[in-house]
Amino acid sequence: MSAVHFEPGAAAPFIDTLSAAYDLDIHAAHRAARERSWYATTPLGLVFLDYESVHWLLHEKRFRLQGNDALDLAGIRSGRLREWFGQILSNKEGEPHARLRRVVSRAFTPRQIERLRPMMRETAREFIDSLAGRSACEFVEAFAAPYPVRVIGGLLGVPPSDFARFHAWSRDLSLAFGSRIAEERPRIEAALANLDDYADGLVERCRRSPGDDLTSALVALESSGGDFLDADELRAMLTVLIFGGQDTTQCQLACALATFARHPDAWHLLAAHPEYALSAAEEVLRYEGAGSGNPRTALEDVEYRGLAIKAGTVILPSAPAANRDPKTYPDPDRFDPLRRHGEPMLTFGGGVHFCLGASLARAEIAEVLPLLAQRMPNLALDGEIEWRRGSLIRGPERLPIRF
Ligand code: HEM
Repeated sequence: MSAVHFEPGAAAPFIDTLSAAYDLDIHAAHRAARERSWYATTPLGLVFLDYESVHWLLHEKRFRLQGNDALDLAGIRSGRLREWFGQILSNKEGEPHARLRRVVSRAFTPRQIERLRPMMRETAREFIDSLAGRSACEFVEAFAAPYPVRVIGGLLGVPPSDFARFHAWSRDLSLAFGSRIAEERPRIEAALANLDDYADGLVERCRRSPGDDLTSALVALESSGGDFLDADELRAMLTVLIFGGQDTTQCQLACALATFARHPDAWHLLAAHPEYALSAAEEVLRYEGAGSGNPRTALEDVEYRGLAIKAGTVILPSAPAANRDPKTYPDPDRFDPLRRHGEPMLTFGGGVHFCLGASLARAEIAEVLPLLAQRMPNLALDGEIEWRRGSLIRGPERLPIRF
């Protein structure tokens, strides 16, 4: 059953983005729809499908991130989740957003990422060693999920004994970005309450005994004479970093292994040439990115390429579709770890909301891929991939591999 329908007389194809068929093969759906049109209708609004339109939308000031609209649709008009949505960086616009980015960027420097590289490699080796004697595993549980927890924990100065707790809370919080917000609200809000308390405790600890970590650096801004985050802003920033740094990277790593398992030549090339790690990571992010894009809402009536967009229209700038636009990437369905990207892939979004953690995520992926390729040379799928359903952060929920 196809997720794409062509109604006679309709201006654009319809993609049922809520269907199982769509989640199973989003690329096939985008390809079929894009052959007819650069945009499609969906049960939630519109989706833009080519590089030009997605890039335009990401940079267009007459749209804002959907933010609270998702909660409105779910009938959530007050409470902790609503408050949190109002506070976090990705839901701010204009100068309040620019100010938060300026302040956090003074602490979240390239040095914070560089200092984590040895730990990334050590952690990867430790997880791979723990598989010694085995020839198969479920990769999400064995590696993709626990690895980013360690990295984000290291970034923020979280003691290892707390990793399991904040990982469980982040997992529950990720439900706030799926299609089941209303049903899952109690679980999401309980996780948020725990994460808020945890973030406050972490700030207190870093205030008493500052370390080399990002939390301490954010706290130190208070006495720097410049702008700094107040207690509420700091708590919201930490929860968003704890959350933002885990689920996305987990899904991206699982997408990467699923891709390489189907491209053994590329895997062997990477094992022999670890110096290709950066370019391989970039191609994985293009070919099978974990970010579907964040929906935008039109603030006023807008006309674009002959399409009249009414104020309030919700549009998804589909990164997976743009990243396989043949006008931008020749032979886009070919996975080529040495591909030269003429235009930057859009998995991290673009414009003012461009992913704050993109450099960290790139480093995490590029550090581990060659190690995995060298230690798991016979990588292959060991059963069906179970893809996550109904979420903007996409990737295998379960990835059985042999190696
Ligand atoms: C491969 C992993 C990741 C992917 C695919 C990803 C994807 C994205 C996307 C699509 C956006 C929205 C951009 C837009 O709508 O224009 C975003 C924003 C954001 N990401 Fe990531 N991300 C990843 C890793 C991370 C990490 C590791 C962190 C934190 C350490 C992080 C923190 C954030 C934050 C705070 C924002 C909001 C930025 C803003 O609104 O100004 N992300 N990310």
